Amino acid sequence: MTKPTPSIIAIDGPAASGKSTLGHRLADELGYLFFDTGVMYRAVTWLALQRGVDVNDEATVTRLAETAQIDVAPSSKDDGRACDVLADGVDITWETRRHEVDANVSVVSAYAGVRQALSAQQRRIGLRGKVVMVGRDIGTVVLPEADLKVYLDASAEERAKRRYDEVRARGGNPDYQEILDKVIQRDHIDSTRAVAPLRPAEDAVLLDSDKLDADEVFERVKNLCK
Ligand code: DC
Repeated sequence: MTKPTPSIIAIDGPAASGKSTLGHRLADELGYLFFDTGVMYRAVTWLALQRGVDVNDEATVTRLAETAQIDVAPSSKDDGRACDVLADGVDITWETRRHEVDANVSVVSAYAGVRQALSAQQRRIGLRGKVVMVGRDIGTVVLPEADLKVYLDASAEERAKRRYDEVRARGGNPDYQEILDKVIQRDHIDSTRAVAPLRPAEDAVLLDSDKLDADEVFERVKNLCK
C-alpha cells in the first residue's frame, strides 16, 4: 500500500539554513500553503520598534503580540516576496526584513507570552492541513502531530556566507565577520531560550545543507513525501 502524501509538513532549523527556500518550493510542488512563521515574530518586533516600545519591556511587547492583527497572505506583488505580511491591515512585508528587526527579533521571540499568542494562531492555520510550515519549533511545539518533520541545519560559517552573498547581490557592502558574529549570537539566543528552544523533534529527518545544495535538499524531501 502506498502511503498518502503528508498533509502537515514541518520544517525547522536555524537562520539561513535554507528552510524558506525549501519550504516555498515544496509548497509550490504540492499545491500547499507556504507559511513562514518567522514573519510573525518579525511583525511584532517591527510594530514594537515603530511604536517606540522598548523591546526589553516584556509585558508591553506581549500585549502587542496579543492584540495586533497580523496576517500572512499569499504574495500579491511580484517583487521577490514569498508572502504578504500585514499588521492591522498595513503591508509591512519589507519592513519585517529591516536590519533593526534582525537585531531585535530574537529577544522578542524569547518571550513566553509572545510565543503563546503567535503559536496558537500558527497551530490553527496548520491544522487545516495541506501546509508547509517553516520555523524553529513547528515539529516540537506548534504542530507535534505533523506528518513529516524536517530539520535543516548548516554550519554558522556557511549560513553567514549565504547572508553575505545575499547582501552583496542587493548592492550592499557587508562585513563577513560581523554577519558571522550575529548568526552565532542569534543561534545562541534561539537555542538556549527557556520556551520552545530551537532543536530537532525526536522524529525529525535531519538534513545538513553544508553537504547538500538546494536542489539536493529539495529532491530528498520530495522523495520523503512520496
Ligand atoms: O526565520 P527568521 O529569521 O525569519 O526568524 C526570525 C526570528 O523568529 C528568529 O530569531 C527566530 C524566531 N522564530 C521563532 O522563535 N520561532 C519560529 N517558529 C519562527 C521564528
